Amino acid sequence: MELSKNMRNSIFLILLASLLLSTTRCKGGVTSTYRRRLEASVDMPLDSDVFRVPAGYNAPQQVHITQGDVDGNAVIVSWVTPDEPGSSVVLYGTSKHNLDKMKTGKHTQYKYYNYTSGFIHHCTIRHLKFDTKYYYAVGIGQTVRKFWFKTPPEVGPDVPYTFGIIGDLGQTYDSNTTLSHYESNPKAETVLYVGDLSYADNYPDHDNNRWDSWARFVERSTAYQPWIWTAGNHELDFEPSLGEKEPFKPFKHRYQTPYRASDSTGPFWYSVKRASAHIIVLSTYSAYGKYTPQYRWLEEELPKVNRSETPWLIVLVHSPWYNSNTYHYMEGETMRVMFESWFVQYKVDVVFAGHVHAYERSHRISNIAYDIVNKNCTPVPNEDAPVYITIGDGGNIEGLASNMTEPQPSYSAFREASFGHAIFLRLRTEHMLTTHGTVIRMERELQQMKNGSPTGTGFQLPIS
Ligand SMILES: *[C@@H]1O[C@H](CO)[C@@H](O)[C@H](O)[C@H]1NC(C)=O
Ligand SMILES: *[C@@H]1O[C@H](CO)[C@@H](O)[C@H](O)[C@H]1NC(C)=O
Ligand SMILES: *[C@@H]1O[C@H](CO)[C@@H](O)[C@H](O)[C@H]1NC(C)=O
Ligand SMILES: *[C@@H]1O[C@H](CO)[C@@H](O)[C@H](O)[C@H]1NC(C)=O
Ligand SMILES: [Fe+2]
Repeated sequence: MELSKNMRNSIFLILLASLLLSTTRCKGGVTSTYRRRLEASVDMPLDSDVFRVPAGYNAPQQVHITQGDVDGNAVIVSWVTPDEPGSSVVLYGTSKHNLDKMKTGKHTQYKYYNYTSGFIHHCTIRHLKFDTKYYYAVGIGQTVRKFWFKTPPEVGPDVPYTFGIIGDLGQTYDSNTTLSHYESNPKAETVLYVGDLSYADNYPDHDNNRWDSWARFVERSTAYQPWIWTAGNHELDFEPSLGEKEPFKPFKHRYQTPYRASDSTGPFWYSVKRASAHIIVLSTYSAYGKYTPQYRWLEEELPKVNRSETPWLIVLVHSPWYNSNTYHYMEGETMRVMFESWFVQYKVDVVFAGHVHAYERSHRISNIAYDIVNKNCTPVPNEDAPVYITIGDGGNIEGLASNMTEPQPSYSAFREASFGHAIFLRLRTEHMLTTHGTVIRMERELQQMKNGSPTGTGFQLPIS
């Protein structure tokens, strides 16, 4: 349905008004006392329903998909078979009863200390039509399991789309609540995942069976919509005392990214375009100093962003740059020093980070004037700067990060230590007067009028 310009404008105004009402007067910085629950919850036991192994011989499990190219008409399908390699074929098609296309992928396997993984399959299916529902099947020749996904609309400035943002999920009862809440919002079509997946490394010997259980847990979402992966510290699994000296080994084998498509030379920094957004994923735990592959890639990537095509420029990173929680305080500082001036120069809209198990949103500020001798080292309001959002509150076993620095820094607009996730509600660009800035609405779970709607559910990015 085509809305008239007037209608759109009035919807916009209503949205704007309700945002202004629901957002506490945020200039001063608000610290919310809302908590979904106080105690850290424990990991769900391995015999929980969410970890159930699918029935049937060598049945594919841990099915997950992610975007497979830059524009969104390819998908990487991944799954694990436990007993023998079996088939790496994906059958797919637009009719549920006629999977008339076929693509053969590859499988891999890895060992970690005394753990040996199942057979991990990855298959990239390409040349998909935009905005189309596809059905697919894996486990061909043995136990066949069927799923579906919807491709995004063609990339363009006026394409509405809804992203969910989840970070630091883990596999506790709280993680399950967060995922269930995310699923209860039928609008969200793709997850921007800001790192720290399974927390398997909290177990003795980094028990990699917890990588498997995590992937079975999230399959109910990851098999049906792409999750765009960012690497966090819990993906490192660097443990020389176990003889494990290759960083990211389990993560790299299990979760592929389409990094080559964006001319990246490493799997943990890359970009995708989806609907009206250009999304840049960075790796906090890979080298990013001057001359490093990640630095050089980002230096070449930013000028390629075409704001007429993708007005939204979103960055995902694990460790936040602006974080006023005492937990992980200043851990993002070195990367901020390297890249912040570029983010201001290229007018990044929003930077999502995880790592800190709480929620925080900054004003548009920058801190790029400092040059060691000039003493200009205080963040200042800057309309060209991104809004920084920390959303590492998925609900993992480590519990909440509720100890914040006081007083709340002036750059911090809103902060709350409670588990949740965010929905980046229908990115639209039709109200934008320039390529930078529009209305974003953040919705966080349990803030949908249930418990008297805590503060901070929405915010407005100024139209500049
Ligand atoms: C790996 O070693 C741990 C003890 O360090 C032991 O409990 C576990 O059963 C071993 N697993 C395998 C697969 O051998
Ligand atoms: C996880 O959540 C799902 C959906 O809400 C529910 O069916 C399931 O029983 C939950 N499992 C556990 C272990 O809490
Ligand atoms: C940027 O995108 C617009 C809209 O899709 C297109 O017309 C234009 O050619 C692109 N510019 C460049 C430099 O690719
Ligand atoms: C909170 O953080 C401060 C500063 O790091 C520290 O001194 C204090 O002990 C922490 N409090 C708690 C309860 O962890
Ligand atoms: Fe982390």
